[in-house]
Amino acid sequence: MGRLSLRRLRLSPPLRALAREVEIPPDKLIQPLFVVEKPARREPVPGLAGVHRETPATLLAQVEADLESGIDKFLLFGVPAGKRERDFDHDFTAGQLAALRGQFGQDAWIAVDVCLCSYTTHGHCGILDDDWHQVDNDASVEALAAAAAAYAAAGADCVAPSDMMDGRVAAIRAALDASGQEQTAIMSYAAKFHSAFYGPFRLAADSAPARNVPLRDRATYQIDPARPADALSSALRDAAEGADILMVKPGLPCLDVLRELSAEIPRPFAVYQTSGEQASLELLAREGLADLDRVQLETWTAMRRAGADMIISYAARRGRTLLGR
Ligand code: PBG
Ligand code: ZN
Repeated sequence: MGRLSLRRLRLSPPLRALAREVEIPPDKLIQPLFVVEKPARREPVPGLAGVHRETPATLLAQVEADLESGIDKFLLFGVPAGKRERDFDHDFTAGQLAALRGQFGQDAWIAVDVCLCSYTTHGHCGILDDDWHQVDNDASVEALAAAAAAYAAAGADCVAPSDMMDGRVAAIRAALDASGQEQTAIMSYAAKFHSAFYGPFRLAADSAPARNVPLRDRATYQIDPARPADALSSALRDAAEGADILMVKPGLPCLDVLRELSAEIPRPFAVYQTSGEQASLELLAREGLADLDRVQLETWTAMRRAGADMIISYAARRGRTLLGR
């Protein structure tokens, strides 16, 4: 027996292609979209090249362009102008869903984020108690279920709760079923950690917790990155409550969790390459310290290797170009 050569399989592009285990089909990519009620014109999102806070008019044009470039799956974030503390009005986001459905029919698959942080005066993901020290879990769940039902009725294919309240998936499933929306899927942000990688998103979605709130951050509802056991409990619970797709977020910092949960739970898994992760790649490239296309593909490969069935990425719309198909 000669010496084992691991290099022989790496010696030519055809052989490397044949030996490759991990693929990234472009139809596994989901593009996030922001649509804002207020601004007169679309605004770029800091740190995320090619991503904008769209107006209702530019949203339709952007989706049209994305469909032409071969990306047909979206995660929509609606950002209404009027912020409230309760009794939320879903009309703006529901109207955008209806407009997308009207224009593109079934050509676009549209998931919509279900949360309250873009709707509240204080920027938290739930309704707060009277002195703003805690979220009121059950009042928040009721509001989330109403939002999900309204979005489903407006034409969303999938609702994606990102709030992290206890019991929201069961309440949303019940509200959907009770309103004749049995076919609407739920993608649960099941393993969503209290991460510092959400910075550009919070600017895009008006969702940073306000400074004057005693409840300073989202640590009382999002998972502590040092408590991976909670990610497993949360994902098992959301699956039991009827989530069709489970998500791990952020992506690269949590690939160990994605690996473990996807091996353990027989549901499709999404991974969210968050705004801060994306911006970090773009900053690296802008400084001349990395090739953006290569680091982008390397991170997607790592996510697929860790068990992601689908990838939510701000660079999805560059996916077909990047992947050469
Ligand atoms: C809000 C929400 C966040 C993201 C998705 N939905 C931010 C947060 O929880 O503060 C993060 C997305 C990103 O950073 O790209 N519920
Ligand atoms: Zn939120």
